[in-house]
Amino acid sequence: CGIVGIVSTTPVADRIVDALKRLEYRGYDSAGLATSVDGRIDRRRAPGKLTNLRERLEAEPLDGTIGIGHTRWATHGAPTEANAHPHTTNRVAIVHNGIIENFRELKTELDKDGYKPVSETDTEIVALMVTRELDRGMAPFDAAASVIKRLEGAFALAMMFKGEDNLIVGARQGAPLAVGHGENEMILGSDAIAIAPFTNKVTYLEEGDWVAITKDDARIFDREGQPVERAMAQTQLGVSMVDKGNHRHFMLKEIYEQPDAISHTASHYLDLANGKVKLPSKLPFDFKSLNRLTISACGTAYYAGLVAKYWFEKYARLPVEVDVASEFRYREPPMDAGGLALFISQSGETADTLAALRYCKENGQHIASIVNAQESTIARESDIVFPILCGPEISVASTKATTAQLSVLASLAIAAGRQRGHISEAQEFELVDMLAKLPGAITKALGSEEKIDQISHKLSKAKDVLYLGRGSLFPIAMEGALKLKEITYIHAEGYASGELKHGPIALIDETLPVVVVAPSDDLFDKTISNMHEVAARGGKIILITDEAGAKSVGDDVDEIIIVPDAHEFVMPIICAIPVQLLAYYTAVFMGTDVDQPRNLAKSVTVE
Ligand code: G6P
Repeated sequence: CGIVGIVSTTPVADRIVDALKRLEYRGYDSAGLATSVDGRIDRRRAPGKLTNLRERLEAEPLDGTIGIGHTRWATHGAPTEANAHPHTTNRVAIVHNGIIENFRELKTELDKDGYKPVSETDTEIVALMVTRELDRGMAPFDAAASVIKRLEGAFALAMMFKGEDNLIVGARQGAPLAVGHGENEMILGSDAIAIAPFTNKVTYLEEGDWVAITKDDARIFDREGQPVERAMAQTQLGVSMVDKGNHRHFMLKEIYEQPDAISHTASHYLDLANGKVKLPSKLPFDFKSLNRLTISACGTAYYAGLVAKYWFEKYARLPVEVDVASEFRYREPPMDAGGLALFISQSGETADTLAALRYCKENGQHIASIVNAQESTIARESDIVFPILCGPEISVASTKATTAQLSVLASLAIAAGRQRGHISEAQEFELVDMLAKLPGAITKALGSEEKIDQISHKLSKAKDVLYLGRGSLFPIAMEGALKLKEITYIHAEGYASGELKHGPIALIDETLPVVVVAPSDDLFDKTISNMHEVAARGGKIILITDEAGAKSVGDDVDEIIIVPDAHEFVMPIICAIPVQLLAYYTAVFMGTDVDQPRNLAKSVTVE
């Protein structure tokens, strides 16, 4: 969820909605805002996207120079208007991101005192807790302070009070919250992007901090309630909102931005003139002395990590462990001090990835991250950040961030291979050259768009789709399946080609499309045999291969998508393109909401 609060001298409602628009990547199940005029709090809420809230506000505008707003990714309670934030009582309005873990216990306590919630949310419990303190005669500031102390879980929140037009209290415990220092106004926001149109002076709250803002100042307190000073940063974020230009969807725009995005990333990580990888001169770790690399990430970023495992192990002979962050963090994995833990996250705010990072920090690991949002929490808590540099990614389904992440990982794998003595200078030159040629190869791969559009019409009829791949293309098969699930809601699974015969082959019949990702590498013949096993049982095959591969397969395939010939090192990055396009065109044909698919959020800041 995303939260915003403004205390100002000019009307805030429209500005809060604009700020929420910038936070929609954090969820779009419902939205709402509350403002206060002459001490009276009024609110508007609407289920669904922010446009519904805008319509509501047009019909029933809200005045007021103080307000809080929220865009929601549902956790407790269905995405209805009743469960939308802000939650109010006769004394307080609250917006909240995250989960209050002890809300049941607090609810029982409130129940005894006659305070009954009307929604199913944990947020309302906080509102009622504050109300009870106010009813007992506490001042707003003290009431908020006493309740915040009692809340357990990972959350950020903002609240305002009846009769008080110059105070918002915010708290950060496990979910990000920043303060913007404007001219005669103060702003709270889940991230600096939300605050950027108002001011570039931002203070990031630290864990356990809470803050009281008025139009003139911000007073910050730590977990113990002691006043603290936190540094003010100047953000570089521009005011302009990204737009989709001539493209029908952000996703398509971002797919098409990949050659550019990758060139940009390459220019940061590669010294093309000398055929070398260039990394910051002072790395806080040394690839040479590492025994193990531990990668944690979620969703698409996890698949990027899986591809990297093949690269680091093959080219740098460095053992790699990759896990989804939500599993890694609770497994209590033993870690030798001095290892390198690497976190991959486009947003830099994914709660599970952040928790895995903190676990690794406690266990004496060097912390490196590959993030796109350089002002994010994961970036700020890392010893070193390798930026993805692909520009803002708006579509929920990740495309350009994935291939740019892969380019960064490929560069790091080459550097590791060089430092560990497994890659010669000449080999480094060749591998760097392959990365340098990627933008051209990706442009060619985008050329099969029309063919993929046709294939997608057939794919849209399927109930289930299998994706197969071997080696470093196995994660791309899984990524293809994830992309399809995310935006078309068709059930899809990615399997290692060799694993087909150990179970999934039972699913094959003439209704099941099987997407085989198999360029003509060393494992090509093996994957093609697996493909024949599918064809023999009537399965419909869509083969993604290179020009050389296309020449050598017979008539066993129903459809073929051709990517340019390239070395196996860069193939996962090239083959990511057709699987993205296949999901995209299938979704467009089916008429789903491509950029904001149901139930998902771009950045999931709860566990
Ligand atoms: C969410 C998104 C996925 C994304 C994942 C990780 O689940 O819906 O598309 O891959 O988070 O996000 P991150 O920002 O950490 O890369």
